[in-house]
Amino acid sequence: MSTPSMTLFHNTLSPFVRKVMVLLHETGQQDRVALQDCVLTPVSPDTALNADNPLGKIPALRLADGSVIHDSRVIFEYLDQQHVGNPLIPREGAARWRRLTLASLADGIMDASVMVRYELVLRAPEKHWDEWLDAQRDKIRRALAYLESDAIAELTSHFDVAAISVACALGYIDLRHPDLDWRSANPQLANWYFDVSQRPSMVATMPKP
Ligand code: BEZ
Repeated sequence: MSTPSMTLFHNTLSPFVRKVMVLLHETGQQDRVALQDCVLTPVSPDTALNADNPLGKIPALRLADGSVIHDSRVIFEYLDQQHVGNPLIPREGAARWRRLTLASLADGIMDASVMVRYELVLRAPEKHWDEWLDAQRDKIRRALAYLESDAIAELTSHFDVAAISVACALGYIDLRHPDLDWRSANPQLANWYFDVSQRPSMVATMPKP
């Protein structure tokens, strides 16, 4: 095992961190990165992280030269250029923009899911903004319906930036929003997710509350 040359600001519960962790496993780079655990919410920041990422968000990656890169999209692309296997982001052409667009949709699902989680656990129940919560949940449902109807074959074709991002988004919904019951409305997505959840990279990065 080599000594890690990079440090990832990390929390196993973050779907954005998980994307990066799955990439590390899929590309055999996990030994190159030390994990620095961050316990944070938008209202209880991690001071050490703030010093390296003024936005106070994870993931952030400290490189061997001491510089820090963020966010998950930038880190994913950086690490994807550090291995010799098949790229997980197509380097050019229409496939690049399509796969990145699907990954962006998955990131949007994660954003909405994390926002809903924060609203529900960080704000007093009498202050919950129900219309806003419903709008976020609708966003998640619409995005999942699109993946079910228009993207299932693309997700099945290979486990790259698009598929990894969607898998991590679904993992987070299962963790924090089981009430959404997303499988009933999206049976093909559910079957696909069942299959990819068996991958060693997904098993190794299961969120541990
Ligand atoms: C969570 O506990 O749901 C969470 C933790 C870190 C980042 C995002 C979400």
